[in-house]
Amino acid sequence: MKVWKTVLATLVVSGLVIGLAAAGVVYSGAYNVGANAKHWPITHWVLTAAVHHSVEQHAADIKAPELGSEQQLLAGAANFDAMCSGCHEPPGAKPSVAAQGMYPRPPNLAHAGKEMSPGEIYWVIKNGIKASGMPAWGASHGDEEMWAMTAFIQQLPDMSKTDYDRLLMTAKADGIGHHDGESHEDGHGDAGHDDGDEHADGGHNENPSQSDSHDDAHAHG
Ligand code: HEC
Repeated sequence: MKVWKTVLATLVVSGLVIGLAAAGVVYSGAYNVGANAKHWPITHWVLTAAVHHSVEQHAADIKAPELGSEQQLLAGAANFDAMCSGCHEPPGAKPSVAAQGMYPRPPNLAHAGKEMSPGEIYWVIKNGIKASGMPAWGASHGDEEMWAMTAFIQQLPDMSKTDYDRLLMTAKADGIGHHDGESHEDGHGDAGHDDGDEHADGGHNENPSQSDSHDDAHAHG
């Protein structure tokens, strides 16, 4: 009996000490929240593993519809260009300046197209990833649009810049475009897709997901 009391007391005291130390770190401001301060390898490993297993688990029961039709690829490319390319570089382009300063860095989605199941890609698009910068698009987009983006991402590993530009031009010609439910009527009239470099310079970013303050800036400009 006595032994148990000692064990219990030790646990309670250790818990208190750890809790106080943690509170000390939080309240002292010693932790650097800067996006340019890298995590410790162990923290990085824990976070990466948590994201990976969470996505895998949550997407386990999602059944993908048939993917890969021309219509899906056109819609997927147009939506990717409008909403994702400010963070995830399109085929043949460099990551935007904003993406280069983000932590975690938005990955090149060709890797996701190869390594993730369609259900996992769809789940991430719909729900986003907490505290990473990856938005949840499910609130503003329908299933069909999100599956079209999934189909597009699946093709990325084999897609050249020429293929991508061709998809965008066809989508534009066919009037297949981006509708995100927000009031950005002026934001997507963007006719300059022919050079493909506009996303690499980062100086001119029309991605509506970045910040609502763009609207105000454009309204008077
Ligand atoms: C504001 C920046 C930002 C935008 C815009 C954005 N993403 Fe992301 N995305 C991220 C970041 C950052 C990650 C990495 C999150 C992590 O691993 O913790 C990510 C991760 C992902 C992943 C998982 C990739 C992997 O290898 O694990 C997919 C799939 C994805 N994004 C798709 C999209 C799609 C599709 C769009 C457009 C509809 C989009 N993202 C728009 C920042 C963004």
